[in-house]
Amino acid sequence: MVAGRKRKEKKKEEMKLFIDTANLQEIEEASKWPFVSGVTTNPSLIAKEGLTQKEVIERIAQMIDGPISAEVTEETAEGMLAQAHELYQIKPENIVIKLPMTIEGLKACKKLYEANIPTNVTLCFSPAQALLAMESHATYISPFLGRLDDNGWNGITLLEDIVDIKRNFGYESKIIAASVRSVDHVQQAAIAGVDVATIPYKVLAKLIEHPLTAAGLETFRKDAAKTASLKK
Ligand code: E4P
Repeated sequence: MVAGRKRKEKKKEEMKLFIDTANLQEIEEASKWPFVSGVTTNPSLIAKEGLTQKEVIERIAQMIDGPISAEVTEETAEGMLAQAHELYQIKPENIVIKLPMTIEGLKACKKLYEANIPTNVTLCFSPAQALLAMESHATYISPFLGRLDDNGWNGITLLEDIVDIKRNFGYESKIIAASVRSVDHVQQAAIAGVDVATIPYKVLAKLIEHPLTAAGLETFRKDAAKTASLKK
């Protein structure tokens, strides 16, 4: 343990890693990786794929047996709820309804909680917003690390604050580190104690890499070849 680092109470559940994309090739590849257990999408990611949201979510649902966040785009709680019920029908065991951090979004969040439909409140940039989403019974809350860092704030500090609020009061909402840009973001999010990190394909693929692993493997392979040549 690093000197001076306080050991936090052990959590009941393990941290999960989701892929943050709507690209079907990336999801197909990542679905074979044993450490990827869910998908998050948003309207901007869907727009890159040239398919409707329904088509993309249906295809993802065939590949991933885990939480799949599909975002609503209506402005009123009523509109969001109508959209949410349609999306939810695609695969009720896996669909999570992504809602905006607005009063209307939080009204819809509470209603979906009452209907037993999981939610992910997105575009969270402050501890106060996270508190409101926790009080509205969000299943997941997505604080955006990269977008905060890009604008001169500190995304990891926000995560630490939200994790503390959750622990102070025993809220059930799961914290998703979102807008992840680097391996370091994932590492720091894990140390902060988030429940999930949702990670773009390129960063997910980099998590396994370390130059000393590559160098060590090369040495082991060369040495194994020497032993193999001794075999009779
Ligand atoms: C979260 O669910 C969002 O889809 C995502 O993390 C946004 O990331 P960006 O800031 O890279 O667009």
